[in-house]
Amino acid sequence: MSFLKRTHNCGELRLSDSGEKVTLNGWVHKRRDLGGVIFFDLRDRFGMTQVVVNPETADSDLYELAKTVRSEFVIAIEGEVTARPEPGKNKEMQTREIEIYISKLEILNKAESTPFEISAADDIHEDTKMKYRYLDLRTPKLQNNIVTRHKYYQIARNYFSQNNFVEVETPILMKSTPEGARDFLVPSRMHNGRFYALPQSPQTYKQLLMVAGFDKYFQIVKCFRDEDLRADRQPEFTQVDVEMSFVDEIDVQETTEGLMKKLFKEFRNTELELPLPRMTFAEAMSRFGSDKPDTRFEMELSEVTDLVCESDFQVFKDTKERGGIVTGICVKGGATFSRKKLDELTDYAKKFKVKGLAYFKLGEQLSSPIKKFFSEELMQRVFDTFSAEQGDLILLVADQTETAQVATGELRLKIAKEMNLIDESKDSIFWVTEFPLLEYSEEDERFVARHHPFTAPLTEDLELMDSDPLKVRARAYDLVWNGHEAAGGSIRIHQNSVQEKLFKLIGLSEEEAREKFGFLLDALKYGTPPHGGIAFGLDRQVAQFCNVDAIRDVIAFPKTVSASSPMDGSPSNVSEEQLDQLGLRIKN
Ligand code: AMO
Ligand code: AMP
Repeated sequence: MSFLKRTHNCGELRLSDSGEKVTLNGWVHKRRDLGGVIFFDLRDRFGMTQVVVNPETADSDLYELAKTVRSEFVIAIEGEVTARPEPGKNKEMQTREIEIYISKLEILNKAESTPFEISAADDIHEDTKMKYRYLDLRTPKLQNNIVTRHKYYQIARNYFSQNNFVEVETPILMKSTPEGARDFLVPSRMHNGRFYALPQSPQTYKQLLMVAGFDKYFQIVKCFRDEDLRADRQPEFTQVDVEMSFVDEIDVQETTEGLMKKLFKEFRNTELELPLPRMTFAEAMSRFGSDKPDTRFEMELSEVTDLVCESDFQVFKDTKERGGIVTGICVKGGATFSRKKLDELTDYAKKFKVKGLAYFKLGEQLSSPIKKFFSEELMQRVFDTFSAEQGDLILLVADQTETAQVATGELRLKIAKEMNLIDESKDSIFWVTEFPLLEYSEEDERFVARHHPFTAPLTEDLELMDSDPLKVRARAYDLVWNGHEAAGGSIRIHQNSVQEKLFKLIGLSEEEAREKFGFLLDALKYGTPPHGGIAFGLDRQVAQFCNVDAIRDVIAFPKTVSASSPMDGSPSNVSEEQLDQLGLRIKN
């Protein structure tokens, strides 16, 4: 069956096309009847065009047919491009200076009334939109986001290809190698009782590609992590994964910066100034209480351990004695915070494992739960350290260094969001370097690799691996952008002896290391170039370029925070027969 095929899309006609006879295909976005005259906004992914049927000039069959057309019908129209008496008010509508008087109308397909109007999707509950994702994807907002994502792919592919990188696909069914997040497992039909894992990242494969001599590798690749989700975390997400041979940190960072510059040019229309600033992990933690600080606002942390330990407040003194610190922030204008608000902030801080929150509220009267332990003079010195003035609020946290810093950093962020202190028109983008190689896991009662166990220690810290492992810094770097980890990578261990030492430190016996990573350890023996790499969180970067908070908004078919898909109902039950073939039984 033939139909009226479009001569133009719905976004391209302008005043200069006036008088031309055109055919358009699309969806009816909105229809309005004004005193008998019917207006449609006809929509496709390129834009919207106003089309008109006037009962006084149109053929009566055509007019009767037009009256039956509803929102989201798919139609074809033919007509003449005409200047509008007054351009449409919607400035985003590029075709607003023209409209089309219809001479032919074909209904290509009717639509049942949709669960929500595409033109009013902003106000619809997220659950409904997730169930009918294909309808939400019709909105200009999501269409733009997905197209931005498409452009990102093209820019990244061109950039790496032009710089001599080779794109290589790596397996989706791989060996489970615990570390980092939990694996998604895939049971094997041919080997009952055995499982593949979906890759948390292609980390081991890209290192093997360096052993194989590919020199410069990249891949736009899905990664899978079974972890707790939030706005910038999905169970499956996309990395631009990169690995390079014969390089050190600066080479990987310069390669990354080159791509960021191209992306900023395309999406922000600005020249990104290179090199990007660097900040060590230690500095980021002490100034901002975060390894991915948002520097678009101030409210920096000040450590005041020695000063406040001149008071008689025992909690501070005990903390110092146990090697901890007292750190804090000054909230400008925070003296207006109510008692209830301060209780809420205290509860919030406790979520980050600190035991309490002390404050000095510089209101009309000074109020503080700990002022009785301070002399007037000492208090003044504390205020001066924070440059606190009448009307401000000082918050203090005492705990082990990183715990105190993280809790204070989280308070800083929460308060800044609530007080609207973040200048969203700015971009804050820089490197955080010299992360600790290891951290202590209370849960597992052992050291774990902070990045992953193939990350190399700084050469000057090698000796500390024996004497003070927690002090060893890693050759790892993160690209931090507006408070998000937008990319992360490291220089890898390429000597077997160092690799073995690290496995031992994280509590892997030789047998366990062999069982888990034997293939990689073997490969490293056969001539491995010095190598390193990085992975870009593509979803997070596209979300930044689209100015949206949730990466869900830049993924065509995302999961909910409970890792499910209301649209297709996954995860779902499977039949007894399928379970039998896999040799599995569900416990309850
Ligand atoms: P890492 O684990 O830091 O490094 O991941 C790299 C980047 O991926 C993004 N990211 C995520 N995005 C969305 N949802 C998630 N659940 C999620 N988890 C991570 C982040 C992060 O910076 N193989 C190493 C890289 C390397 O060393 O080369 C790796 O995967 O933006
Ligand atoms: P408590 O003795 O636990 O009732 O604490 C008394 C006050 O000390 C609290 O209201 C807090 O202001 C402060 N405080 C207690 N623990 C800490 C801590 N770890 N850091 C900062 N202030 C604390």
